[in-house]
Amino acid sequence: MAIGILTSGGDAPGMNAAVRGFFRALKLQEPRREVVFFRDGYKGLAGKLDSSTDRNVDRTAIRDILHRGGTFLGTGRVRALIPPPDDAPDRDARLRAQQDFLRVAAVNLYQLDISDLIVVGGDGSFKGARLIADHFRDTFPERPFRVLGIPATIDNDIHGTAWTIGFDTALNNTVSAIRNIRDTVESHKRGIILEVMGNRSGWLALQSAVAGGASVVAIPEIPASWDHDDILRRIRAGIQRDYRYFIVVVAEGVRTRAGRDWSRQLRHRMENDEEIIRQLGDPMEVRINSVGHVARGGHPSALDNTLASAFGAEAASRILSSPASTAGGAQDSMIGHDGARTVHVPLDEVTARSPRLVSPDAAIWQLAQQLMLNVGQPY
Ligand code: F6P
Repeated sequence: MAIGILTSGGDAPGMNAAVRGFFRALKLQEPRREVVFFRDGYKGLAGKLDSSTDRNVDRTAIRDILHRGGTFLGTGRVRALIPPPDDAPDRDARLRAQQDFLRVAAVNLYQLDISDLIVVGGDGSFKGARLIADHFRDTFPERPFRVLGIPATIDNDIHGTAWTIGFDTALNNTVSAIRNIRDTVESHKRGIILEVMGNRSGWLALQSAVAGGASVVAIPEIPASWDHDDILRRIRAGIQRDYRYFIVVVAEGVRTRAGRDWSRQLRHRMENDEEIIRQLGDPMEVRINSVGHVARGGHPSALDNTLASAFGAEAASRILSSPASTAGGAQDSMIGHDGARTVHVPLDEVTARSPRLVSPDAAIWQLAQQLMLNVGQPY
């Protein structure tokens, strides 16, 4: 039977290496096994098969993709797969659209004779995969079918894996941005508020702040970190210790929760704080910058390409060593990394426990508290 693969959700550098790793590892053992590429994520799965798939792909299909950022297969988020909230006014229409979508996807999978669907994406994509798999199994119970997830998101917030594809690249891109900003901020003795990606989770903001030597970090999971008063106290303490420039890293999700004006309000407070003006003799100038999607682009880091290649090859190895069956969802898994090696985690466990959020006892949060500006800093 054929194997389908797609990339879904926000693109992540290294997705291409996962597809390539899977393809090469599979074809080494079973050169005649058919591989189907779906274009543009789940849209391709429920699209017109002639235009939304590449069938019987050969080696030329993966030529020159390894070093490219983004995903050569295309990606997207399909609204029909996002469960509507209970109080959504258009809930019934959305549920009908979901059923229509699932019906077409299941028939396409059946027609293409697909036994394994490899989904390279984040937890939203895995939740979508479970809906598709359940629908397929209900409709065609006699057909073997299995989902294999490969975690790819720059947010690094998937349960069951220490690292997701794309995080390391985005982290390095964000740290580069902090370094570049530092040069200009230091020259002018200014403050900078640097907004970085991460709407639900602050791993990227937190780790880039630690690695880039930021003064303060604010992340969505820890409301105390959004507190302007606390940030001002730290900055005043820094000025007392003769610090003359300040880098505040803030994850996108803080603005979603604390208000769109969070950065502008903080800038206003920093520029108008009487204590700061008194200590500096002048108001501090503060600029707001956003790293945004720039962090998500560019060629993948060596670490991301290695991780992604290992995930892809592991998907091939699982398919070759234990064929999909009609046994149901228990065989669906996500390939994760436990810090030492690749592991399989049940897909329902992954979707139930993701996103993986930063907690105040996370080692990286504790480290940030030790290394960033502190009010009681004695040195
Ligand atoms: O999930 C990855 C991510 O980059 C998040 O950090 C961010 O909140 C979101 O995607 C942005 O999504 P979009 O690319 O659709 O604007």
